[in-house]
Amino acid sequence: MTELLAVRDLIVNYHSERGIVRALDGVSLAIGKGEVVGLVGESGCGKSTLARAILGVLPVPASEVRAGAIAFGGDNLLTLASAEIARRIRGRRITFIPQDPYGSLNPLFTIGQQMLDLMHWKSPRAAAAGRSAWPAVLSRYPSARRAQDRAAILDMLGAVQIPNPEQALAKLPHELSGGQRQRIVIAMALLPQPELIIADEPTTALDVTIQAQILRLLHREVKRRQVSMLFTTHDLGTAWEICDRVVVMYAGQDVEAAPTPAFFAAPRHPYTSKLLESLPRTDGVAQDIPGEIPSLIAPPQGCRFHPRCYFATTECTITRPPVSGGAHVVRCYHPLGASTGVAA
Ligand SMILES: Nc1ncnc2c1ncn2[C@@H]1O[C@H](COP(=O)(O)OP(=O)(O)OP(=O)(O)O)[C@@H](O)[C@H]1O
Ligand code: SF4
Ligand SMILES: [Mg+2]
Repeated sequence: MTELLAVRDLIVNYHSERGIVRALDGVSLAIGKGEVVGLVGESGCGKSTLARAILGVLPVPASEVRAGAIAFGGDNLLTLASAEIARRIRGRRITFIPQDPYGSLNPLFTIGQQMLDLMHWKSPRAAAAGRSAWPAVLSRYPSARRAQDRAAILDMLGAVQIPNPEQALAKLPHELSGGQRQRIVIAMALLPQPELIIADEPTTALDVTIQAQILRLLHREVKRRQVSMLFTTHDLGTAWEICDRVVVMYAGQDVEAAPTPAFFAAPRHPYTSKLLESLPRTDGVAQDIPGEIPSLIAPPQGCRFHPRCYFATTECTITRPPVSGGAHVVRCYHPLGASTGVAA
């Protein structure tokens, strides 16, 4: 796998009135070129925090990056100046699909105005034109480039199956359905021809009937264009459907990463195994994971799953386990299927 992005040992805290929230505790993950990686975990485990850290949009001053690196195309995104990230990377080489399509569109401007504004600054032709001598707010949008960008927008609206693209450009966001708005947002994430898309639970806000259509569309378009994608979800079924590889997080720690078929065939971390058992079966039976998700203000030391883990030993309560395994990696002192005989 040729690596496109690598997050290494990332530690992020939030400062809240209740105390320091230890949201990411040494998280590592890699995304290959053209790969769709599912970042899976229950609510509050740190998926959006990781997504925001990669995009360089963690809240200031509430958040604090304590350690780690995010390598992308020769840069460390954690040390690159924020103006450089805004100019060269965010919205251009890395784009974003949020959970709520309505929140990411301006209610006062037509879809066409918003898409052209995006292309003015972020289209591949804008990158090729280089930096304008004009101050950014006064920068001209040459009519030839504008016409080319408009044609690219119409093509893309066709690709994301918006009926009557010309008419859609004249509409305000509230005149479209939730599913259509999310198709527009997907089109806007694809138009700059990025190398990586961060999709943060992009279908959760939609009706269940629409979710599957949007997922299929997103998967088809990223694969067609060989764009990598980090797709966060709390839903294992969604990860199964569209991800090449799955990375599981628990309470701010990455615990397992594997190609999707290997992961679902034989999960190796006690938490992920329980997570799969907690899915409703065809007979309607689901097994809850005993115990509670810990507070991230006073999280358990070592492996954060240890208070709920049947296999925990003393070392689990002291130091976080290192990564082991090849293509199927796990952070556990006693992984399932290992020859220790502790757990099988
Ligand atoms: N601005 C903030 N200030 C303080 N704590 C925060 C802030 N943002 C997030 N957190 C906390 O950080 C932890 C991780 O939150 P995050 O939003 O990354 O989780 P998530 O996995 O995306 O959850 P969800 O599935 O609900 O979207 C949670 O405990 C959350 O309460
Ligand atoms: S065996 Fe130890 S390291 Fe593995 S999940 Fe359980 S508590 Fe964590
Ligand atoms: Mg989230």
